[in-house]
Amino acid sequence: MPRVTINDIREMKKRGEKITVVTSYDYATAKVVDKVGIPLILVGDSLGVVVLGYENTLPVTMDVMIHHSKAVVRGAQRAFIVGDMPFMSYQISTEDAMRNAARFIQEAGTQAVKLEGGVNVADKVRAIVQCGIPVMGHIGLTPQSINQLGGNLVQGKKPEVARQLLDDARALEQAGAFSIVLESVPYKLAALITEKISIPTIGIGAGPGCDGQVQVIHDLLGLSDFVPKHARKYAKLIDIMTEVAANYYNDVKAGTFPTEKNSYIIDQSIIDEMNGA
Ligand code: KIV
Repeated sequence: MPRVTINDIREMKKRGEKITVVTSYDYATAKVVDKVGIPLILVGDSLGVVVLGYENTLPVTMDVMIHHSKAVVRGAQRAFIVGDMPFMSYQISTEDAMRNAARFIQEAGTQAVKLEGGVNVADKVRAIVQCGIPVMGHIGLTPQSINQLGGNLVQGKKPEVARQLLDDARALEQAGAFSIVLESVPYKLAALITEKISIPTIGIGAGPGCDGQVQVIHDLLGLSDFVPKHARKYAKLIDIMTEVAANYYNDVKAGTFPTEKNSYIIDQSIIDEMNGA
């Protein structure tokens, strides 16, 4: 199967086919996600929270993102893979933005990058796209600005913010972004933005009117400490993992693991000879 391209993703919007996106941060998960045919994988900086245990995404660095993106690239042969540009990897200058976007493509092997912001980052999006690197935008709740926003709050309830979000979406479209994540935006506003722009919107907490949906895989699996309102827990893997760890602990303590079945054999004569030595 050839790898999904940005043209395939654009065509999906035109056909009205919903675009499924999920995060992955490692080889094994990417392999599973790829196997079921999910067309787009995001190596999100959310890994700072769900994999590394930070309070938010701000401590995540380029080196960490490259490390995890490489593992995902090794696991997924078909999905289009987007690397998330971490805090301060693109904000300082356009040169920084281009150089760090290029690291995702050259070092990690992702097909695209994502960055947060609208009108304020449009010049950087344009410069990266002009390098030949597809860019996914991200507006609404932008977690890298959590301190400026005052928390993980729904964005766009006030008329001026709602209008700004539409301006942001248009600016990203004009700058050449191939799609835009809308995070924590009232669903009617997300549907309106989706209607008014030609590139796909990918919602997370933005309702069913978006062209696609993205979710953090730990939330779907039931591995996160906190599962947001907008996520659906398809399993409670944390309970299964707890049971596995406890069973293993008890088996080792009781001496019921390992057994002969889990052990390697050696010719008895060697043991006898060593015993006699
Ligand atoms: O980092 C991430 O996983 C994201 C998604 C929630 C869109 O940005």
